[in-house]
Amino acid sequence: MSLHIAARDGEIADRILLPGDPLRAKYIAETFLDDAVCYTDIRNILGYTGTYKGVRLSVQGTGMGIPSISIYATELMRDYGVKKLIRVGTCGAMRKDIRLRDVIIAQGATTDSSIIRNIFGGSINYAPLADFTLLRQAYEQSVKQGIPARVGNIVSVDRFYDDEIDNDKLTQYGIMAVEMETAGLYTLAAKYGAQALGLFTVSDHLLTGEACTPEERQTSFDDMIHIALETAIQ
Ligand code: HPA
Repeated sequence: MSLHIAARDGEIADRILLPGDPLRAKYIAETFLDDAVCYTDIRNILGYTGTYKGVRLSVQGTGMGIPSISIYATELMRDYGVKKLIRVGTCGAMRKDIRLRDVIIAQGATTDSSIIRNIFGGSINYAPLADFTLLRQAYEQSVKQGIPARVGNIVSVDRFYDDEIDNDKLTQYGIMAVEMETAGLYTLAAKYGAQALGLFTVSDHLLTGEACTPEERQTSFDDMIHIALETAIQ
């Protein structure tokens, strides 16, 4: 058992899907996995291990924001030896050519989080990157499913409500979308020598103010989960 995860040694698979919302972890486990067993419910952050197409796989909530995902990602890699971590989340689109329900793969994760400064000191602006093998596999899977993913740079912000951030500048420099966790996941995966990937569906649009209906959210979420599961078992 680690500080925030109740699993015993061996109860977590070496590959894991990481939604922010713990109830999404429950949904994924109950809908897509066979023989899923809950291994943790500390703070209601639920985690399950089961199998997908015969391959052992786990799924666990991370909570919102880099501080929260950092706790779970660290314990999963350091204490349970997890080697492949795929975040499955939603994001807000920041460019006109990105549409609601698009699937996005974060090739890189720009951030305003202090995690980079805290680790590297003042002069280094480390670039948190996806694992290329996972990225390629996920992209190929998205093409196979007929929903080619958009691949590029996203921004992992510290504040959901942020009146000061310059979104226009970020867009001008190619940032496709905004979420709140991936830069932390990529940086910690590099530290622990693990593979990490961030996959998202666009749930809202910052330029137009549009948002998915609950039904649209569910369908596009399921499409993304298929991409993530097929990638995780390779
Ligand atoms: N901001 C931050 N995180 C998000 C958003 C957003 O607009 N949409 C989904 N995750």
